[in-house]
Amino acid sequence: MQSLRDLLQAAQDKGVALGHFNISDLVLLKAVFAAARERNVPVLVGLSEGEREFAGTQQIAAFVRSLREEFDFPIFLNADHTHSLAKGLEAAKAGFDSIVFDLSALPFAENVRQTKQAVEALKSIHPAMLIEGEIGDIGSGSEIHETAPDLVKGLSTPEEARQFVEGTGVDILAPAVGNMHGMLLSMVQGKAKKRLHIESIAAIKRASGAFLTLHGGSGTDDEDLREAIAAGINIVHINTELRVAWRRGLEQSLASQPAEVVPYKILPPAIEAVEAVVNSRLELFNRERHFAQEG
Ligand code: G3H
Ligand code: ZN
Repeated sequence: MQSLRDLLQAAQDKGVALGHFNISDLVLLKAVFAAARERNVPVLVGLSEGEREFAGTQQIAAFVRSLREEFDFPIFLNADHTHSLAKGLEAAKAGFDSIVFDLSALPFAENVRQTKQAVEALKSIHPAMLIEGEIGDIGSGSEIHETAPDLVKGLSTPEEARQFVEGTGVDILAPAVGNMHGMLLSMVQGKAKKRLHIESIAAIKRASGAFLTLHGGSGTDDEDLREAIAAGINIVHINTELRVAWRRGLEQSLASQPAEVVPYKILPPAIEAVEAVVNSRLELFNRERHFAQEG
């Protein structure tokens, strides 16, 4: 089995990106795994601190490991949005493949100082674990927001990106490039899309030389996502779109069989609804570019 680092490099060489999908239960895990197997592409599943609290840090690690081993399939596990070293160490000890150590809410210099300490501590107990750091402001909460936060002041610059990667030793950088966590109602309804600063992504890639993650992928314009990957994004995170599909799938299933009480008869439509979203996102992220044909 190739390592996550090798798969990221291979994806970068091909001009594609790895899909990262947040999960907090078996419905979401089964849906992501089924879609990745169907497309036969490597995939990352991630759990934030809250999602890990619900699923169980050790338990979800055992589950994902058993899928990887039984099916000999490249599914990797990420400790998403981890805000303290204690929570990071918990995930490292449980065998997570990567971690998003997110101190982006702190002043820049403090973010650099504490992220560097975390890189050293985490690598000392799990050397192969990839560590991602975050800079800038992309808002919080993979939920449906009533109003758009003003994130203009939190956009990342190439110079910050270079300083952060050099100063911390992170393997992966998550910048603020027009992306935002969560969706507006208009985005859920398909009436509006998030737009990205493609030039900024390209400049950050040149300045930092690091693998780049795009957080807040839900509701982003498809063509912008393709351009972002071409400009240097290596991982795209999707959460809210899955949560919306999970809820709709469950509601429809309950409505269509009001007397049913058997979980394994109620839940499959929720799995199918999430799987369809993951499948279409994986298709987009793994579409190789053929420049000659595009003209
Ligand atoms: O880390 C999780 C993601 O950044 C998800 O963002 O809910 O906007 O897709 P999203
Ligand atoms: Zn995120």
